[in-house]
Order: sequence, then C-alpha cells, then structure tokens
Amino acid sequence: MARARAVAEHAYAPYSNVRVGAALLTKDGRVFVGTNVENASFGLTICAERAAVFTAVTEGATELRSIAIWSSLERPLPPCGACRQVLSEFAPSLEVWWTSGDAEPVCSTLDELLSHQLAPDDVRRAGGSS
Ligand code: THU
Repeated sequence: MARARAVAEHAYAPYSNVRVGAALLTKDGRVFVGTNVENASFGLTICAERAAVFTAVTEGATELRSIAIWSSLERPLPPCGACRQVLSEFAPSLEVWWTSGDAEPVCSTLDELLSHQLAPDDVRRAGGSS
C-alpha cells in the first residue's frame, strides 16, 4: 500500500483531481506500480490498476498474487469494472486491497468483486477455427 500511495503522487488527473496508485505483487515477489493518466479526450483515460498490470505483463510477469490500491478520495475506491476484468485475465482469485487517505484497507478477492467474468477459455478455441 505504501508503494501504491507513493506512485499516486505521479497521477495525471487534471480533470477529476482524483489521484490513484496501484501496486501489483507477483508470485515471485516483484512489485509493479501504476497510476491514473487522464486525457482531454476523457474516454482515453487509463486507470492505475490497468497501468500496473500492463507494466507487469510488459516485464514478463503474469503470475499475480495481490494488488493494493490507494486513492486520494474521501471514501476508499475499489477497482472499476474494466480493471476487474483485465486483472481477472491473469489472476481470477487475486487478493485485492484498497483504501484512501489513512483509512484501514478493505480486502476482497477478485472473484468476489467480479462474478461470471469473461474468462480466457470462453474465447479461446483449441486450434482456432475459421
Ligand atoms: N480510476 C482509477 O485509476 N482506478 C479505478 O479503478 C477507478 C477510477 C481513475 C480514473 C480517473 O482518472 C479517476 O480515477 C476518476 O474516475
């Protein structure tokens, strides 16, 4: 959580003024961080959680253990639906911690937060088909 809070200092959030940081712990003990990056074309904004997971995958890390999310909001901010789906691609049972300010973190698992997720096997077909 300390890493998530620290990286939120780098948030680019001139439109919402909400700073979010995420720190993703891999099964082999590495940590990858991400922060939210907004855009004048609002829909192009990327959340902290997805920034973190894309960095992890870019570095070859897809075995994920847990994620910590810190936000500058008054109330703790759980990961949005899009981020839940993206995280579940790699770790459907990921441990998820979230908090804001100095509040006590809330913990849940991704499968509790996202039921009936679209899973890789729902899309992948053995050998492909045309
Ligand atoms: N945001 C995140 O970084 N993660 C979430 O799970 C939800 C929202 C960001 C996006 C935007 O920059 C700001 O928070 C307000 O929605």
